[in-house]
Amino acid sequence: MELDTKTPQYMNNDEKSFAYVSARDRWPVIITGAIDDTYRSVSQCDDPAKLNEGKTIVAELASLKYELQHDRQMTPLRDDGEPDIAGYNAELEKLGNPTWFNVPWLFSECYLYRRISTSFSLSTHWKQYDIFSRQKMATFRSSRPAVLELAARYKDIITQMNKDKAKKGTPEHDEAEKILFHEMCEICLWGNATDLSLLTSLTYEDIQKLQGSEARKASEKNIIVNDLESAYQVLKKARDEGKAERRVDIVLDNAGFELYVDLILAGFLLSSGLATQIVLHPKSIPWFVSDVVPQDFADLLSALAQPKKFYETQSEDEKLQDKTPEPLSDKEAGDLAFLFQEWGQQYAEGQFAIRPNRFWTHGGSFWRLPAEKELVDDLKTSELVIFKGDLNYRKLTADAAWDPTTPFTEAIGPMGPGSGVNVLALRTCKADVVVGLRAGEDERIRATEGGGGDSGIRKWAWSGKWAVVSYSGGK
Ligand code: F6P
Ligand code: MG
Repeated sequence: MELDTKTPQYMNNDEKSFAYVSARDRWPVIITGAIDDTYRSVSQCDDPAKLNEGKTIVAELASLKYELQHDRQMTPLRDDGEPDIAGYNAELEKLGNPTWFNVPWLFSECYLYRRISTSFSLSTHWKQYDIFSRQKMATFRSSRPAVLELAARYKDIITQMNKDKAKKGTPEHDEAEKILFHEMCEICLWGNATDLSLLTSLTYEDIQKLQGSEARKASEKNIIVNDLESAYQVLKKARDEGKAERRVDIVLDNAGFELYVDLILAGFLLSSGLATQIVLHPKSIPWFVSDVVPQDFADLLSALAQPKKFYETQSEDEKLQDKTPEPLSDKEAGDLAFLFQEWGQQYAEGQFAIRPNRFWTHGGSFWRLPAEKELVDDLKTSELVIFKGDLNYRKLTADAAWDPTTPFTEAIGPMGPGSGVNVLALRTCKADVVVGLRAGEDERIRATEGGGGDSGIRKWAWSGKWAVVSYSGGK
């Protein structure tokens, strides 16, 4: 494609990159999880036709795993009637019909999830089935301490902001608002440290540690690029200029806890008047394990609508272990009810929109976004488009092996200056690609414990411990 970068992309056979570790170790575990989940649902089936079809899906997933582990040729996707299939298959051909390890990481990983989805979309009884749904909700439930802490914090902030309305426009008010903007964005950023595809290497306990406010404070020094101030100024300027409609878009990443913190940021932007509308962009198919699909909104909101039921009903695992979940206190239930009411009202007033688009699950990078005329024109009407998470960052930078001091504005190619889109990436690092670093920074972090040292591996960038917040003014 003429819009693609000339910088080489990370490849699955590059033994020093996370691509190799992912393809060799993580994907088989993820496919096995998908097989187990489907099998569990199949075994609960009463309808023989559905049961048989479910067994076929399980067999298809098993053969996908076999093909991957034996480095077989990647086969063209079966046509499930969606227009992206042709693009995937054309790309495979252009790549010379490669085997699993002889292919760019980004494309093959997208292909993996798209291929899984065809097994379901081509079925009669399992079309809407989400193999990751159980896992997404279970992890959200296990994030309970951080969820409650944030609900209480959110209530305090919004209540205080409502009291301080008269001070609006004063330097004191602006300063407080700016600090809160930074805090909310950082909460939203670190919410990305907890995606489920990394669960293959992190325990639930590790994840809980990553979510609390103390962890966040301790992690501030780990934000190695921080352009939040530029993003704040863009939103403030639009408001100060009296622009009536000021939209912020969030290209979402993960469901559960991350979606929850995305909504916290969204609610704050609306309540503070830094935005008048929020447009959320979920995926259309189960994607990279934990990414948000529209159903995940409904699941999250119904959990918040009846928090006692959600937290106090025994889960399947708790039943097996004969554990009784701790009841919610009235204060905790009240804080969650406050959140639910706030978001419900904003939604009812049309301030929230959810806009899926198949482009987000294409196999190419966001260098190709300008070719998606309708989508990019829509994004241009936004003051700020926030791209959440690691995969969106990889797609923005084309998952290419840039020198880490390459400016972000250059590494995002056609989405950079002049694109008409103001881009803000909030990303905890879980892959090799990283740009916008000061000279010497990569070397400095490599020399820290677990950073990769002299191995030639940028290991520090794989675990979600470090983060980058990068801005590009496109207007
Ligand atoms: O497996 C590849 C990968 O993109 C990693 O880079 C990352 O760990 C994960 O999948 C997705 O992360 P995120 O949910 O932040 O996009
Ligand atoms: Mg994700």
